[in-house]
Amino acid sequence: MLSRQTPARGLEYFEMIIRPAKCLRGEIALPGDKSISHRAAMLAALAEGETRVQNYASSADCRSTLDCLRQLGVEIDQTGNEVVVRGVGRTGLKAATETLDCGNSGTTMRLMAGVLAGQPFDTALTGDDSLRRRPMRRVIEPLERMGARIESNEGRAPLRIRGSSSLRPIEYELPVASAQIKSCVLLAGLNADGETIVVEPVATRDHTERMLRVFGADLQAFLPADTAEGVRLTIQGPGHLRSPGAFVVPCDVSAAAFFIVAAGCLDRSEIRMPGVGVNPTRSGIIETARLLGVEVHTTDEQEVSGEPSATISVRGPLRQQTRNEIRGGLVANLIDELPILAVLGTQLEFGLEVHDAAELRVKETDRISAVVENLRRMGATVEEFDDGFRVERSRLNGARVDSFGDHRIAMAFAVAGILAEEGETEIDGADCAAVSFPNFFEVLENVVVYE
Ligand code: S3P
Repeated sequence: MLSRQTPARGLEYFEMIIRPAKCLRGEIALPGDKSISHRAAMLAALAEGETRVQNYASSADCRSTLDCLRQLGVEIDQTGNEVVVRGVGRTGLKAATETLDCGNSGTTMRLMAGVLAGQPFDTALTGDDSLRRRPMRRVIEPLERMGARIESNEGRAPLRIRGSSSLRPIEYELPVASAQIKSCVLLAGLNADGETIVVEPVATRDHTERMLRVFGADLQAFLPADTAEGVRLTIQGPGHLRSPGAFVVPCDVSAAAFFIVAAGCLDRSEIRMPGVGVNPTRSGIIETARLLGVEVHTTDEQEVSGEPSATISVRGPLRQQTRNEIRGGLVANLIDELPILAVLGTQLEFGLEVHDAAELRVKETDRISAVVENLRRMGATVEEFDDGFRVERSRLNGARVDSFGDHRIAMAFAVAGILAEEGETEIDGADCAAVSFPNFFEVLENVVVYE
């Protein structure tokens, strides 16, 4: 594996050259979970008392969240992966003197919008080119109903949030299955006067709900007898958060996904990944990989800071595939893993078809068109749908592919390069892997066996 710098394209920019490998062997230390780290920093900031967040994600996205909170007057110290947040309490944030830069991070922007809607001051939020193209109407609409006023560039960032310290509680049914929208409304609900209700027709990751409870908020979840009606979440405002003292972030199952696929496909592979988050609303990749034929085991299950974690072990080669389709409610449970599952599809006897995943088109890049384009460049047979794709079992050949500035595309195609039958794969703009996994290529190189 070789990286090639092109200074003309910017200081951080590099492309990565990947060779096909024989197998993966060893133990892998994954970064802290990105979704959970964002939330831990935000809730710790809004709580009374100091929180020691351990195994905080090393990702650039989670650094954006810390930077935004610092600009709002929160004191945060970081030593390695430990972050100490001195909470200011629900009403203790201070107006920022400059625009908050959320970088590439949709979670930072959408969740912070929920926090800032209930503050008695104005805040401007922006992000990089990718984030400024992503839809924000989905958070603007409920927050305006609660009484905030939000200016935007036709529903996109930059946003100017004119907060109100007397938000109205609302009942809100999520129009799209999105944990970011749900979390945004629940966080705003902390500052509303009364009971804010979020109805979730399709279950999405419940990290915010679990963590609000760990921080002492009054949050209730009601599962109706008829599950087609969706879960009703209620949060009582104004909410008072108390630091639990220490908070431990599990390792990121979305980061594990790349290694699950790479090791699962290659004969004689054997890897272990300790301490990975296996929250059932988030870890659909594990059961789905099994159904697609990957030998995955989870052991040492435990629960820390309200989240279950386990050691994930994977062996290759692939076994019998008992499913070849992903659609419906499962999609939200593995939305970030679909690019790497598309790569897995090329190795499966019956291929893989994905539907109900139109949300992929509004991620860091249009992930449907990115995977279709790159897989075709590597010689795969792929069909593109509005809401997904179909990948046939195909021989992959090394090719020049593009990350399209999207971390999960860069990492998925590093795995495709390793699984290729022959030839080198050059990933243009591979540096963006740092958005969620700064030392991804190093970690991969450490477990890859070439001969
Ligand atoms: C996230 C939710 C998902 C996911 C994103 C992180 C979160 O987005 O794709 O990477 O931390 O809540 P949506 O809520 O927009 O589906």
